[in-house]
Amino acid sequence: KREGSGSVSAQCPSNIALVKYWGKRGNQIPMNSSLSFTLTNSYTETELKFKPKENDGYLVNVYLDKNLNEHFAPRIYTFFERIEEYIPFLQDFEFEIHTHNTFPHSSGIASSASGMGAMALCLVQMEQNFGGNLSEEEMLRKASFLARLGSGSACRSIYKGITVWGESEFVENSSDLYAVPYPYEIHTVFKVFQDTILLIDEGQKEVSSSVGHKLMENHPYAQQRFLAANENLGKLIPILKEGNLEEFGTLVEHEALSLHAMMLTSNPAYILIKPNTLNVIEKVWEFRRNTSANLFFTLDAGANVHLLYPENEREACLEFIQNALKTYCSKEKFIKDLTF
Ligand code: PMV
Repeated sequence: KREGSGSVSAQCPSNIALVKYWGKRGNQIPMNSSLSFTLTNSYTETELKFKPKENDGYLVNVYLDKNLNEHFAPRIYTFFERIEEYIPFLQDFEFEIHTHNTFPHSSGIASSASGMGAMALCLVQMEQNFGGNLSEEEMLRKASFLARLGSGSACRSIYKGITVWGESEFVENSSDLYAVPYPYEIHTVFKVFQDTILLIDEGQKEVSSSVGHKLMENHPYAQQRFLAANENLGKLIPILKEGNLEEFGTLVEHEALSLHAMMLTSNPAYILIKPNTLNVIEKVWEFRRNTSANLFFTLDAGANVHLLYPENEREACLEFIQNALKTYCSKEKFIKDLTF
């Protein structure tokens, strides 16, 4: 039994998948490999305070922006149940979690990746303070492993830049159990890539991603989708190396639309994009027809649009976003982010 009280803290950014994870089995094992850009400005900061506890069972209070949030504790308990065999001291303490996101709360931007990533980093730090002897590399791997058990895509947020999760024939040392930093050559154009997130809808999503993953279980096109995602990861490797922006855009937009096609063809069917999501997509395509801009969209499991473009086209793309796209955003809100 561990004793004492104290606190640990960590920061973890959000990420945007280029090849999407959609569908899982068993203990958070992905049905296909995925690849993402880790973001920079959108992150979660978490402080984990602990003190000794007498009774059995978990005791956790979660404060979001200084307010006690009843909604989060059950998710933390589920997370703790899944990770207890790897972090055995969870029952010895009562915890207070103080957490803050740099992006607007309930903006429709998933905070689960950054939030679970930050929690996992805190727990690994805590274990280390209790005499753990992992190397820096092992600590990150363990954090990614734990984050996966909180929210699948969170495991990719532990590393900066480009990361891969899911065993892939194309990526050596890739694993279903944790993400790995992308190990191959990346063209300079992709080393700093812009992601401007348009907040199309700030409401609560109608269908959560856990329900979405579940609906892939009896989905008529699921097997084809898993194959396509795995192949797309393979196709992205030479694109990232050569800096081929046009092929990059085609692949990334196809991935985004395939993700939502799965939702449209689930049983029951559901639609998370909104009319303004489509308005933005049309405008982006029109902009590309009329200019030589390399501005592409991707989507996560919601209505918001992530606009991806290279650093050297920042000015032109931001001007277009201001003039033509901002009007489709909820309260004209968008977030300028980037990966590097
Ligand atoms: O990590 P989850 O279970 O919330 O799933 C998120 C899946 C997508 O964001 C839609 C795609 C991805 O790979 O991040």
